Amino acid sequence: MDTFVIDGGRRLSGRVRINGSKNAALPILAAALLTTEPVTIHDVPALDDIANMIRLLAQLGCGQVAQGAEDSAGVIRLQTTDESISHAPYEIVRTMRASICTLGPLLAKRGYARVSLPGGCSIGERPVDLHLRGLRALGAEITLEAGDIIARVPAGGLKGTTIFLGGANGSTVLGTTNVMCAASLAKGTTIIECAACEPEVVDLAKLLIKMGAKISGAGSPRIVIEGVTQLGGATYVVMPDRIEAGTFMIAAAITNGDMILDNCPTDAMLAPIYWLEAAGVHVQQVAPLAATIANTLPAGRPRGGSSLSLSSGSTSTNGSVGGGGSGGGGAGGGDDPLRRCVRVTTERVLKSVDVTTQPHPGFPTDLQAQFMALLCLADGNSVVTERIFQDRFLHVAELSRMGAKLVRQGSTVIITGVRNLVGAPVMASDLRASAGLVLAGLAAEGTTCVNRVYHLDRGYERMEERLRSLGASIARVDEKELAAKNIAAVS
Ligand code: EPU
Repeated sequence: MDTFVIDGGRRLSGRVRINGSKNAALPILAAALLTTEPVTIHDVPALDDIANMIRLLAQLGCGQVAQGAEDSAGVIRLQTTDESISHAPYEIVRTMRASICTLGPLLAKRGYARVSLPGGCSIGERPVDLHLRGLRALGAEITLEAGDIIARVPAGGLKGTTIFLGGANGSTVLGTTNVMCAASLAKGTTIIECAACEPEVVDLAKLLIKMGAKISGAGSPRIVIEGVTQLGGATYVVMPDRIEAGTFMIAAAITNGDMILDNCPTDAMLAPIYWLEAAGVHVQQVAPLAATIANTLPAGRPRGGSSLSLSSGSTSTNGSVGGGGSGGGGAGGGDDPLRRCVRVTTERVLKSVDVTTQPHPGFPTDLQAQFMALLCLADGNSVVTERIFQDRFLHVAELSRMGAKLVRQGSTVIITGVRNLVGAPVMASDLRASAGLVLAGLAAEGTTCVNRVYHLDRGYERMEERLRSLGASIARVDEKELAAKNIAAVS
């Protein structure tokens, strides 16, 4: 297992491109099960969860096919050639909960699905009752056998209906994607009320529409789907990852850095940008560089150096992009509000803020740990309340080990800002908690070792290389080698 060794206290500066979204790509790849024609997806990030999904799809008869001239990094071309195996087994589901994304597509296309029931995980219980409620409303016959969900289409086929998909904690993202996929091939009209509004749901809907589905309202709590008899192939570019973008924004903020993010989905990030600005972080839309220039930029340029002149050469625009900023296309970043170019800078003093995680468009739970790391260094008391996964606080005890002052009460953490964090060995068995610890390590005095970074590798591609290119001192080392070195140093 690998560990990140971080020597903190360096300001990050330079330019980074935001990759395609993991959470958009996972249900999008699974949607290839809905057709026997090729589905080509661009900008798929190279992550462990994605590799697991591709492995699962191959087991389900939907393998990768040659792309010829199109072949390049980040492009995945899938085609279903064998529909005889519709079983997503526990061995894969236990490594990746998003395997549940195959349930709706398998059921709708093949009439039968057997998907191992995902158990709880380090961030909570994570039931799938809403997925099952939605599919049952379409007429699916669902039973549980030996830890597996068995779903069958009845004799008359799936039938559209009006479904309330809300639960105790609000809407469900993957539940909405599962029902949307199944309803695309059901007879008649399905209305999903209390649908998840997350941008990743919209991204899937856009792909399904390209495949021939009739969907309107994605991105709102009411999605309307007119069923069609079949779906075809399509080519689609996954949206950029809003959580990765938020993590890099916080990396800039926590190191008092100056960073430009290309391919940044600002319109999907209004809440995090609003709260970053409330904490004293500036997020400004700037004009993008020509790709060729961006690709040849030297790594880790010093603060206030060429990043300024490069962006101002093409005129910085409209100021703030969030919380009442213009948000328009303008000269900076072209017309696509999901693929803009922003510059992140800070004033030296961070302000305390109170934030509560909510379903989109509220503040995302997937940025809570990273934002908490930032608030550890803010002036005064902040309050962070987690409303999606109420036990998603694995980072709290670890941040405390680094000198943060945190008090947890139920689903709320009170943070008293400190002047400095101090490097320490830390570990968290959750992807975003690990990201929060890496951010804390970047700001801390001394050396932080973030253990078991395979959690981080599930959601961030080459995180250490990209942070290094921005000036961070961060190395990936083998845990055993590090332990041997430490023993040698002590003896
Ligand atoms: N819930 C239920 N019943 C269900 C489904 C969900 O009660 O059948 C509850 C959950 O326990 C939770 C809330 O509803 O309290 C929302 O869960 P949701 O179903 O929306 O989560 P998900 O679809 O399983 C996706 C992301 C998560 C992200 C959540 C919330 C993917 C692959 N995963 O999970 O991402 O935290 O939405 O936005 O898209 C991550 O990337 O680190 C991550 C955990």
